[in-house]
Amino acid sequence: MKPIQVGLLGIGTVGSGTFNVLERNQDEIRRRAGRGIEITMVADLDTERAKSVVGDKVKVVGDAREVIANPGIDVVVELIGGYGIAKALVLEAIAAGKHVVTANKALLAVHGTEIFKAAAEKGVIVAYEAAVAGGIPIIKALREGLTANSIQWVAGIINGTTNFILSEMRDKGLDFDVVLKEAQRLGYAEADPTFDIEGVDAAHKATLMSAIAFGIPVQFDKAYVEGITKLAGADIKYAEQLGYRIKLLGITKRTDKGIELRVHPSLVPAKRLIANVEGAMNAVVVNGDAVGTTLYYGKGAGSEPTASAVVADLVDIARLHGADPAHSVPALAFQSHTLAAAGHELPVLPMAEVVTSYYLRIRVADEAGVLAKITGLLAGAGISIDAVLQREADEVGGEGSTQTDLIILTHDTREGDMDKALAEIQGLPTVLAPITRIRKEELN
Ligand code: HSE
Repeated sequence: MKPIQVGLLGIGTVGSGTFNVLERNQDEIRRRAGRGIEITMVADLDTERAKSVVGDKVKVVGDAREVIANPGIDVVVELIGGYGIAKALVLEAIAAGKHVVTANKALLAVHGTEIFKAAAEKGVIVAYEAAVAGGIPIIKALREGLTANSIQWVAGIINGTTNFILSEMRDKGLDFDVVLKEAQRLGYAEADPTFDIEGVDAAHKATLMSAIAFGIPVQFDKAYVEGITKLAGADIKYAEQLGYRIKLLGITKRTDKGIELRVHPSLVPAKRLIANVEGAMNAVVVNGDAVGTTLYYGKGAGSEPTASAVVADLVDIARLHGADPAHSVPALAFQSHTLAAAGHELPVLPMAEVVTSYYLRIRVADEAGVLAKITGLLAGAGISIDAVLQREADEVGGEGSTQTDLIILTHDTREGDMDKALAEIQGLPTVLAPITRIRKEELN
């Protein structure tokens, strides 16, 4: 069979990894796909750099639209990123009848509904394994391997930059700002790390997992997003003393009322495998009613790990190219006409409706009755306390200090009730600083 012809839009880190993996493993890939997969055209603004990666045998152009207009190209691989030009090019490629492979989580989390609809109408595939957790085949696992299950929840460390920062904060006892600078110096964090550290990148990925886990449309606008910028080294230390690690988790969960979709720092019991995922590694835990809990671990970014996912998508497309589109796995795992209805039956819940447990750190005046007053307000809001830790005032504020930290772990509570109780506690004259609230996930 004729090799499938691939055009790359962008040949940076992931593009060059894709080219190299396809070159190196071409014999095995052909045996698996049933036909060759050849990159025959590359568009990149930096044509000289592109030529230095692909050599003379591949046509290099500066204009991505030349790739899309080429009738010989069967698949367009979009590796530009972002919502701007990438969105226009993906829609144009679909309109031109090309299959699309993309690593662009931001694009799909925000504009996925429009893009998948256009692809379905045109009978082409939009594949995106590389968009979530890089080299970990979590899209494949959720869409295919776990297809028998009613998925109950998914929780993942799906941003390597923040996991690296949190690991360093714990290992070295440093605060966020110091570690971020070090991460940037080492090249782990982007020069503008906003999407990573504010949780946006993880929320894009959680949004995609939520859609394919529960058969609902992508709804990034309904995700709750909180990053790691306000985490203090002290909280990581106190969490450790209580038997927990703090991780930035992307969580999506089925409840009686709807779907939870949230990204925020979370206390996780130190004995869970996912709590021990260190550095820039990613991991995703999926709980299905039939299979129970499964764990997927690996590199969430990088040239060849991400290329591993891109090439897997190319192999799927090579096998299906020319087949009836009805035979391909639905883009969001569920038949597309069932998604919209599910979006109403299973709404994404506002954060106030989320039920979880909490870690609270409250800086207080070290005087009689303060703890009783705070626990009284929690009890009044129906919030049950699981554990209390009080630091020595000297340890918190230095010798002779009259302030101390109260650390309180609660049982499961509705977030709206916690908001109300914390507003009251914050108003007490003996509470001396903004209260730190970190959600706690037992993941059992
Ligand atoms: N910036 C991401 C991370 C990788 O740090 O995991 C690409 O999604």
